Amino acid sequence: MSQIEAQKRVLSGMRPTGRLHLGHYHGVLKNWIRLQHEYECFFFVADWHALTTHYEGPEVIEESVWQMVIDWLASGVNPGSATLFIQSRVPEHAELHLLLSMITPLSWVERVPSYKDMMARTNDRDLATYGFLGYPVLQSADILIYQAGNVPVGQDQVPHVEITRELARRFNHIYGRDSGFEELAEVAIKKMGRKNAKMYRELRRDYTEQGNQESLEKAEALIQDQQNISLGDRDRLFGYLDGGGKVILPEPQALLTEAPVMPGLDGQKMSKSYNNTIPLREDPKTVSKAIRTMTTDPARVRRNDPGNPEVCPVFKLHEVYSDEDTKNWVREGCTSAGIGCIDCKNPLIDSVLEEQQPMRERARQYEDNPDLVKSIVAEGCEKARSVARATLEEVRSAMGLDYR
Ligand code: TRP
Ligand code: SF4
Repeated sequence: MSQIEAQKRVLSGMRPTGRLHLGHYHGVLKNWIRLQHEYECFFFVADWHALTTHYEGPEVIEESVWQMVIDWLASGVNPGSATLFIQSRVPEHAELHLLLSMITPLSWVERVPSYKDMMARTNDRDLATYGFLGYPVLQSADILIYQAGNVPVGQDQVPHVEITRELARRFNHIYGRDSGFEELAEVAIKKMGRKNAKMYRELRRDYTEQGNQESLEKAEALIQDQQNISLGDRDRLFGYLDGGGKVILPEPQALLTEAPVMPGLDGQKMSKSYNNTIPLREDPKTVSKAIRTMTTDPARVRRNDPGNPEVCPVFKLHEVYSDEDTKNWVREGCTSAGIGCIDCKNPLIDSVLEEQQPMRERARQYEDNPDLVKSIVAEGCEKARSVARATLEEVRSAMGLDYR
């Protein structure tokens, strides 16, 4: 995989700490599904990250891993387009985490906002652990081991992508220029064959001496076309073009998911901790009942009392699911007491059930056949591992660990 294409690789992970709900679908999964058609995507189950906070109750993780993958598949994540895997089945992440920890200043991890927040907010378990402190370093390893260019995350994860960028920069700065870089680059040039080597040298000279951008692009295309050179040589050839050392770990960028907050059954943000979720694959009867029994504008006690949609949790869901006509019908009917709350909820129930229908259908084949899910994940793990191994080899060698 070349540097240029690798820049674009998309990687994201999710912690398996419970069943997914419609908040995950609208906030994250719809975005994944869109991205899988545009980019090479790697999506993984961050079970080690779940352990950093749930180390005392790993049962929930074990149970959630497979259910979460089924939720992804049910939502439309396509294993033909995206690579799906489990973090702990790619032990290369752990080795890179260890190696990155050597160059991670303590102050960087201590000042990450999520760390301070979580420590302050959590009182039901002790998070003053080595593992939890290393959370962002492990996340950096997750990203850097695939040389991912794009990391779709929510706002809360941006500081983690930022620390990843800083670690990549620091790593490249310390180890990027291996001793004898120029000699190795010269050897790599010769491996392209006489004609290509000559062309590479001319294009490189044209770029470094004249700043000719077109020559740079041509040289990059030339490297791209080489079939028989190793990843290391390829990187060296890229790095040598602009005179510098090689970028071993490219800096990723956060792809902000700018989905509006998904309201839950009580009007607050949909979240497991508020107990206000609609699980992704909930059965239709339970979904209908949950919506039918939602609290409404508290001022609307009797059917004849007019209400105010602006303060009603039900209307917040209409904002997500209903078209303008329906919303106008609600505004008009609610404020004039022309419709009852059950009338108001019915089209909402229909829309949610309709959204979930294909999910339930897609899920069925996986629920009925757990081996199918396992084989999708096994294949994903294999593919992820081969990419991860190649990066790790580069990292080991840059850090002087490739003696035998
Ligand atoms: N920390 C992320 C979360 O809580 C999950 C995660 C782990 C992740 N590793 C990642 C996300 C790498 C993106 C990239 O949501
Ligand atoms: Fe809420 Fe609809 Fe009832 Fe108005 S009619 S209070 S918007 S549920």
